[in-house]
Amino acid sequence: MKIYANGVVANEDVSFELEKGEIHALLGENGAGKSTLMKILFGIEAPEQGDIFLHGEKTTIKSSQDAISKGIGMVHQHFMLVPSLTVAENIILGIEPKKNGVFINMNEAIRLSEETAKKYNFDIDATSKVEELPVGIKQQVEILKALYRGAEILILDEPTAVLTPQETDELFVQLKKLRELGHTIIFISHKLDEIKAICDRATIMRNGKSKGTYHVKDITTDEMSRLMVGRDVVLSFDKKPVNLGELALSVRNLTIKGSTGKVRVDDLSFDLKAGEILGIAGVEGNGQGHLIEVLTGLNKHYSGDIYLFDSDVRNLGIKDIRNLKLAHIPEDRMTFGCAKNMSILDNMFSNQYDSDEFSGKVVLKTKVIEKRAEDLIKEYLVKCKSYKQNVGMLSGGNIQKVVVAREFSTNPKIIIANQPTRGIDVGAAEFIRRRIIQFRDEGCAILLVSADLNEVFELSDRLAVIYKGKFSGIFTDVKNLTEEELGKYMLGLKKDEVLEGIIYE
Ligand SMILES: Nc1ncnc2c1ncn2[C@@H]1O[C@H](COP(=O)(O)OP(=O)(O)OP(=O)(O)O)[C@@H](O)[C@H]1O
Ligand SMILES: [Mg+2]
Repeated sequence: MKIYANGVVANEDVSFELEKGEIHALLGENGAGKSTLMKILFGIEAPEQGDIFLHGEKTTIKSSQDAISKGIGMVHQHFMLVPSLTVAENIILGIEPKKNGVFINMNEAIRLSEETAKKYNFDIDATSKVEELPVGIKQQVEILKALYRGAEILILDEPTAVLTPQETDELFVQLKKLRELGHTIIFISHKLDEIKAICDRATIMRNGKSKGTYHVKDITTDEMSRLMVGRDVVLSFDKKPVNLGELALSVRNLTIKGSTGKVRVDDLSFDLKAGEILGIAGVEGNGQGHLIEVLTGLNKHYSGDIYLFDSDVRNLGIKDIRNLKLAHIPEDRMTFGCAKNMSILDNMFSNQYDSDEFSGKVVLKTKVIEKRAEDLIKEYLVKCKSYKQNVGMLSGGNIQKVVVAREFSTNPKIIIANQPTRGIDVGAAEFIRRRIIQFRDEGCAILLVSADLNEVFELSDRLAVIYKGKFSGIFTDVKNLTEEELGKYMLGLKKDEVLEGIIYE
């Protein structure tokens, strides 16, 4: 049993049993109490009630230090690495090898890190700086860090939420190897196919309680989602035919260089009209991020032309772009998406305080805003006590819902959605996808970037594949495209020279 200081009962009479050498899934809706339970096992939160047994013996876990000494390691939902340090420094952080008892012995640190990496078959350069690494590798560093500390039981809190399908496959290979070596893994994910693919057993949580443990091979994904959400979840939608409106976004010969001068977006051209969803699929790091930075006004260093409803983006500030009714769901909710130490209400309306609806002559229309916050919390199923609560106290998926609610409530004419349902449970993801289709039907233009191929397939009217900063293919008949075929384009194995349908003549 875990009750947080503000009275939230996050875990209630939960039972959970782990067998040595298994990969055990923990699943449940956003806010069901999964991270909390894991934090208890890792000594970060203390339970109000209940017992923990390790190898049959009753134990208490007083701190994460204590958990580590008992062979438990955890990779958190939001990474905890120090970006400015190297891989080796991060791996040995806190237990550094000393030289003459004082200084950190860097060579030894690198050697030890490389030795650990080799032992577990991780291909990592211990001397590179963490901030320069792609997410998939950062995660491997987190895992190595836990293994270096002797973790026998490894807790992975939504490890695949930030990974591309390819990175996920790599992670799975490594997790299977760890299982062979006798390690035990707790795996949290909202992606039910992943649980099917790699887990032996699954425990389902709902509203802070455990709803039973199942052998994964005996339970279908439909049954899993029903147990989690308490109703059937629709995983595919019927869309109305597209009804194209005005040109919302037009990009011509866009080239963007990264900070090192490397070309990240290479002579890209495309159009987006009101009433359609243009999906962009691609392995992360192929220019999607750079493209979105420029489209949303965060970066002005580019060549080529971008027109947003006839306005040249070059002359527009971030605020002007917002005023043109562009909504943006950023990829990284913790860095750009929200302010952790601000309330839900402030996070929901911080970008709208100067709009007519909310600002009176002198003071903000507090009552209007409070009512709106309450409505949005209900509509988007944000699990919280009140809008006064700090966003930092919400569960990962619920933070994402706050960001989506804020962006969707601005009456957007164009939405740039980057991984909109990352970390969101199946039920809430269904709602958000439905909402995106509804926006499209109401004449909003939508650019969707997502690593979730199911999502891209379900929603896109046209689907473009980006590879090394260029489009390698464009598909208008998305329904008849296979994942395999798409994968070839994403990996650069296939490429169309003439791209028909990316520009409206
Ligand atoms: N530090 C905290 N203070 C107060 N309440 C908290 C705190 N951390 C979590 N909670 C609340 O406890 C409940 C369970 O949260 P938890 O993070 O365990 O959910 P979760 O199952 O991991 O969800 P998600 O899938 O969104 O990550 C939520 O209602 C959340 O708002
Ligand atoms: Mg969580």
